[in-house]
Amino acid sequence: MKINLYFTPGEFQEEDLRDSTAVVVDVLRASTTICYALKNRCREIIPVAEVEEAVRLARQWQADDVLLCGEREGQRIEGFDLGNSPLEYKRSVVEDKILVHSSTNGSFVLVKAKASLKTYVAGFVNLQAVVKTLLENGESVVILCAGKLGRFSIEDAVCAGMIVKSLQQHDAKIQIADSAVAAKILFEKYSSNILGLLQNCEHGRYLISLGLMKDLEVCAQVSTIDVVPTYRDGVIKKNMR
Ligand code: MLT
Repeated sequence: MKINLYFTPGEFQEEDLRDSTAVVVDVLRASTTICYALKNRCREIIPVAEVEEAVRLARQWQADDVLLCGEREGQRIEGFDLGNSPLEYKRSVVEDKILVHSSTNGSFVLVKAKASLKTYVAGFVNLQAVVKTLLENGESVVILCAGKLGRFSIEDAVCAGMIVKSLQQHDAKIQIADSAVAAKILFEKYSSNILGLLQNCEHGRYLISLGLMKDLEVCAQVSTIDVVPTYRDGVIKKNMR
């Protein structure tokens, strides 16, 4: 098994993903939100990069069967049913619904990851579930950090580093790229206080300014959700191998 890692979507091309399993990491907040939605039994999630495409796509279904979800600048898109706070995705709201989801960064990198064999979605909340699945698969892994607006996000890098370290702890022979070495070092520096990392990173401070401190507490929980969101053929469902 080899691990490659990109800190921003602009660093990789679709051909870099061929013959590999991709893992998209967007801690604040798309990965965490997607995990909550699947844990709470939504039917499926369709990531869409553009708002207009999301609105057009949602018209395919009966209004009762679909929810328009997503954010721009961290806040619910006008006219959408849900924003991008994991806490909105309660079972009473999302169970058996099709979620058309457009977030600024997470959806963008998911759509770009389509060329991979399969794509998993990881945050801190489902980290061990994703690591377990990657070890079972044994395929080479490309970790794709969503970043923010094309720039480096330390919270995504630290989460990616935790995935790298966890994989290496189970298989010391894994070959890792220099970027994965750097991410692992970042994880080792911040591992003792994940919530503190989220409270002090750029996007975390912005979410706090929007009154969304609770989201950071949720996104900082480690391996509390046993769900592996799997993106294939344009749709995210849970625990497909
Ligand atoms: C995301 O893609 O997760 C968004 O860019 C950030 C957010 O939801 O605040």
